Amino acid sequence: MRALGPVSVAAAAVHAVHGGFHVIETVTKSTGNIGTPTDLSACACDHAPPPADVDRENRYTPRQHLRLIGTGVGSTSSPTSPPRPVRSPWFPCLARRSFRRRKWPSLCGETDPTDPLMPIRAKLAQILRPALDGHPQLRSALKRADDSMARLHHSVAGVVPAIIRPTPEILFISVTGQCNYRCIGCRYERDFMVGERLDIGTVRQVLEDARGAGVGSVRLYGGEPLLHPDLPEMIRFGTKLGLDMYVTTNGSLLDKRIDELWNAGLRWLTIGFYGDGETFSQYTQRPGLVGRVAQSLARVRERYGKELSIQLNFVVVRPLATMETLDLAWHLAETHDLVLHFDLYGYSIPFFTSGPNDELAFTPEDEPLLRAFVDRVLELRRAHPERFPHSEPFLRSIPDWVMKRADMRIPCDAYRFLWVGPDGSVQLCDTSFPLGNVKERRLRDIVYGPEHRCAARDAFQLKCPNCTCQVEDRIRKHAPSWRRYSREGGS
Ligand SMILES: C[S@@+](CC[C@H](N)C(=O)[O-])C[C@H]1O[C@@H](n2cnc3c(N)ncnc32)[C@H](O)[C@@H]1O
Ligand code: SF4
Ligand code: SF4
Repeated sequence: MRALGPVSVAAAAVHAVHGGFHVIETVTKSTGNIGTPTDLSACACDHAPPPADVDRENRYTPRQHLRLIGTGVGSTSSPTSPPRPVRSPWFPCLARRSFRRRKWPSLCGETDPTDPLMPIRAKLAQILRPALDGHPQLRSALKRADDSMARLHHSVAGVVPAIIRPTPEILFISVTGQCNYRCIGCRYERDFMVGERLDIGTVRQVLEDARGAGVGSVRLYGGEPLLHPDLPEMIRFGTKLGLDMYVTTNGSLLDKRIDELWNAGLRWLTIGFYGDGETFSQYTQRPGLVGRVAQSLARVRERYGKELSIQLNFVVVRPLATMETLDLAWHLAETHDLVLHFDLYGYSIPFFTSGPNDELAFTPEDEPLLRAFVDRVLELRRAHPERFPHSEPFLRSIPDWVMKRADMRIPCDAYRFLWVGPDGSVQLCDTSFPLGNVKERRLRDIVYGPEHRCAARDAFQLKCPNCTCQVEDRIRKHAPSWRRYSREGGS
């Protein structure tokens, strides 16, 4: 590790306070990729292994890369802050017990903001966020220190996986299975969670419990979340609890609902981008909705100016990963002041598919085009870094992710996540590791249990379908990959 400056030392101190894993880190050597696909049956935990035929999603990512400790440039789509601590073995048991003994407030605004069980990192983020807003250089320095510590953490965990603990920071809630598009790469509204929807009472409980468990950021999506009548109330409730609430939508109904969402406190939005014109019609199977995203964006900017942060999620699947579609997305980004984010082909995420004729998958013949596509993105990023939340190393790794797929054996930090589906099911990530159902048990009784701990460790070791979720974070926290893709032309 390079010589640490004062900021890094401060970050290390934070980690030390939180759990003391720095001691282990200093004496343990870095490891490489997680070797071969792991035998799922080897897991000693109770959680069910993922079904063999799963196809899954790409985790998307949150807002805070622009706000928390990150610089907004070269950071990831998920909140960034010092890596999670490793607590001494007795700590989680005590924490869990007292966590369950707690009296839970039933009304928003009553939750104690100094809850002693909220992980220190979440508390620090809450304290630091406003203070760092006017200090981009300090924020950037902390971000670099944080990244270095995260790489150390993962290097040590490669040797001692037991140090991986569940530390839920980000909660994804799929509020409805309903959608007004029929994307060829998506199963929502076709055969995934059809007719399922979370009611507002359940979502309120989930948000309260998540807040108590240390979650800082919540993504509301689906399906199409703007089809849920209670979406504004969910945002209002979560915001009052002090959670960073954001929504991922296809954007088609945004102009119609933006006032309610804004009034509820929404200030951060991500929009799935599926091209325009014929490309859009073929991908979404909804030709009548061509142009709705651009109209919605114009309306939102006219009403609320730049106070709403908006990210366009460009989905890197074969029919969309073309120069023309990239130019189109870039034009939208420039016209409406958007950040351009890339979600990768979700080959193993349960609610995505490869299309009816496998047309979303990349073949070896696509590689030159794909590399040219990435080169163009890198060029744009160098000229306009403020428009790209991704790091260069991650962008360089894109062809490998979508071509090698599950052979990319890079540890996953899904220990920071929780996912709740429209039917109430809870998983560690949207793809794997079922933990329970919030319609049967409160989230507070699901988290931090033995299954959760086991799932966190197994996720790190990729005892899962190894999807394309969190790929930016995975590259950034894996020292060998970070070095490899940091090199010009590295792949
Ligand atoms: C499942 S969608 C749900 C929210 C909303 N309906 C939308 O389309 O944005 C969430 C995100 O998944 C990403 N996505 C969509 N199709 C994908 C696919 N086939 N592979 C990977 N990511 C995909 C997009 O970035 C989208 O914003
Ligand atoms: S990707 Fe989004 S817009 Fe497309 S069908 Fe799925 S949920 Fe609907
Ligand atoms: S644990 Fe596996 S399936 Fe879950 S997000 Fe990580 S790589 Fe994907």
